[in-house]
Amino acid sequence: MLRNAETSGALEAITVPQGTAFSEALSSLLVREALLSEFIHAARMSTIGEMASTIAHEVSQPLSVIVSDADTSRRILARDKPDLRMVDRLITRISESAERATDIVTRVRAMAANRPPIKADVDVREVVSASIGFVSPEAASRRISIRSEIAGGDVLVSGDVIQLQQILVNFLMNAIQAIDHSAAKLREVEIVVTGSHDLVAISVRDTGPGIRHDQAARIFDNFFSTKDGGMGMGLAICKSIAEAHGGHIEAVNWANGAVFSFSLPRVKTRPSTTV
Ligand SMILES: Nc1ncnc2c1ncn2[C@@H]1O[C@H](COP(=O)(O)OP(=O)(O)OP(=O)(O)O)[C@@H](O)[C@H]1O
Ligand SMILES: [Mg+2]
Repeated sequence: MLRNAETSGALEAITVPQGTAFSEALSSLLVREALLSEFIHAARMSTIGEMASTIAHEVSQPLSVIVSDADTSRRILARDKPDLRMVDRLITRISESAERATDIVTRVRAMAANRPPIKADVDVREVVSASIGFVSPEAASRRISIRSEIAGGDVLVSGDVIQLQQILVNFLMNAIQAIDHSAAKLREVEIVVTGSHDLVAISVRDTGPGIRHDQAARIFDNFFSTKDGGMGMGLAICKSIAEAHGGHIEAVNWANGAVFSFSLPRVKTRPSTTV
């Protein structure tokens, strides 16, 4: 279990009462951590729900290729002199398409899994590429490009890879929605990962309308949303996860939109062992 969940914004209503016996306080803390974990999972399921039609579309594409290539192969094989090289090419495409569909299902299943948070050393590159993989069909369908720029060397943090991915996916979904609901000509999202001595910072910069000055203080609050059908839980969950990882989250505007960042303590690279 990840500790420090008591700083969670999402569950701040559940507090350890002053002066309780240690065991009661501990069990209260454990209940709170379990609740936070359930809550974070519920939010992840809601994000997947929002993306359901894009995911279904993404899986159905390679499946149609498989069906049509299998049909063509059968027709070619029924000829007197079948073009076996052509059949070989079609079979290769069938297996590539099956792999693509499996990748999508694996990615969604990992995000949908409800398991206790697992603390491990996490390479931030892995978080970035999995998150881009997850949201890229949403971005592509809205003609928005996503770029990433990652500091050289190891960028390791300690935490639960799926929860860290959840922060980035929420940031990216917000960035995509912000650009899509504005008249922005430039439709770009940029992820930048930088590492200092103690921290790794991951930021998402968009070309949307930016954060409204009068709303800036409320965007991380539970249930604050300016979107039709928005739950207003995305950023509150991001804040909870970042803080439970000993990290920090912030939002600012830049010339062309908003920048959301989270920074986490950096795990020092172990000296490499030579054999
Ligand atoms: N990239 C962004 N640019 C401008 N405003 C943003 C951006 N990201 C978030 N916001 C503002 O912060 C609010 C809260 O975001 P949050 O992700 O918590 O909820 P939501 O996106 O409205 O709903 P959901 O719970 O489905 O994520 C948004 O409704 C929007 O007003
Ligand atoms: Mg959101």
